[in-house]
Parts: sequence; C-alpha cells; structure tokens
Amino acid sequence: MSKVLYIKANVKPEGQSRTFKISDNFIDEYKKNNLDDEIITLDLYKEDIDFLRSKDLDTVFGPKNDESKTHPTLKYAYQFAEADKYVIAAPMWNLSIPAILKAYVDYISVVGISFKYTQEGAVGLLENKKAVYIAARGGSYTETPYELDGIYLRSILGFFGIKDITTISAEKLDVQGENVDKIIEEAINRAKETAKSF
Ligand SMILES: Cc1cc2nc3c(=O)[nH]c(=O)nc-3n(C[C@H](O)[C@H](O)[C@H](O)COP(=O)(O)O)c2cc1C
Repeated sequence: MSKVLYIKANVKPEGQSRTFKISDNFIDEYKKNNLDDEIITLDLYKEDIDFLRSKDLDTVFGPKNDESKTHPTLKYAYQFAEADKYVIAAPMWNLSIPAILKAYVDYISVVGISFKYTQEGAVGLLENKKAVYIAARGGSYTETPYELDGIYLRSILGFFGIKDITTISAEKLDVQGENVDKIIEEAINRAKETAKSF
C-alpha cells in the first residue's frame, strides 16, 4: 500500500481552478487503479501555510530527536518524508509557483528529514519516490528558460532525491483564440493516462 500526498496550491475557490480540474481527475483515476492506497490531501491555503520565521531556523537546521516528530515547525517535513508519491497541483504565477507553495517547500526542506549534509555536499534522503507536477498556465513556456515553476520544482525534488518526476501542463489558457476546453480536455486525458501507471 502506498501513501500519496496530494499537495494543492491555489487560492481560487473550489470548482474554479483549471489546475485542480486536471489534478482531481488524476487523483480520481489513480484511486480507481489503486483501491488500497492512502491519499492525503494537503490544501496549502486551507492549511494557512505561513512563512518560516526566525524562531523556526534552529529547528529546521538543528539536530532531530524523537520529540522533533511532533514539533509544529517540522510536521510538514515528516508528513512529506512519510509519503511514497507526490501529486503537486499549482498554476503558474509570475513565471513561477505561487508563493504559498514556496513557503511550503521551506517547511519541508529540513536537514535530517529531506536531505543531509555530507563531506561531499548535500544528499537527498527521499530516494525511490515519485512525483507528478500538474500546472495550468496562461501562456506557453514548456522547454523554455521561463518555465521556472517546473524547473524549480523538479530541481528541489531532485535535491531531496526524488528523480522520477512527470510534468503535466495545460498551456495557453489565457491566449485569445485558443480552444481552451480542448487544451484542458487533452491535459485531463494525459493526467488520467499517467495516473494509471503512477
Ligand atoms: C497572480 C497570477 C499570476 C500569473 N502569472 C502567470 C505567468 O507568469 N505566466 C502565465 O503563463 N500565466 C500566468 N497566470 C495565469 C494562470 O497561470 C492561468 O490563468 C492558469 O490557467 C490559472 O490556473 P487556475 O485556473 O488553476 O488558477 C497568472 C495568474 C495569476 C492569478
């Protein structure tokens, strides 16, 4: 049985996000194919994720012990490390990820949980896991240097040791004259196909 962490980062009310329309279809298809798996949904706005504060820094970089597991600053990092698979759903904002998702990354990038320091440098602790990143974008950025949302997420997940990452994007959703319904439908189909073997 696998544990899937479904991380949602969008301020739009329920039912209005095109990103979530695609990612919810992914999750539904995944559930159909993996009846015994546990899906944990983490909606970052509902969680009201804060920014790391100065009081948190020693906790993030300091040594970990049994009490760390219940420390409020570390709960997201432990939850992340305990998952086997990740579904991250976020729209592109200003060429990158929404700030709340970056704030969340700051909570899960914890020494001794998601990575460790060695004499050769930092080493990820979350190997043999996989992730899918689902993004809706107003413009078209795939395979350009401006796809900073995907480039960043793939980099930080890779830093944690997660190398098996699939990106599913629906692009040009705000470009006049585009058949937006068709673009979303195609992205949903890609998402469902990916979910079958995820
Ligand atoms: C604050 C904000 C910033 C945005 N910045 C970009 C951007 O830099 N590039 C882009 O292609 N689209 C940008 N968009 C458009 C969204 O990515 C696009 O409308 C997407 O479909 C929204 O997905 P959603 O329906 O899940 O919110 C931005 C939208 C918002 C609200």
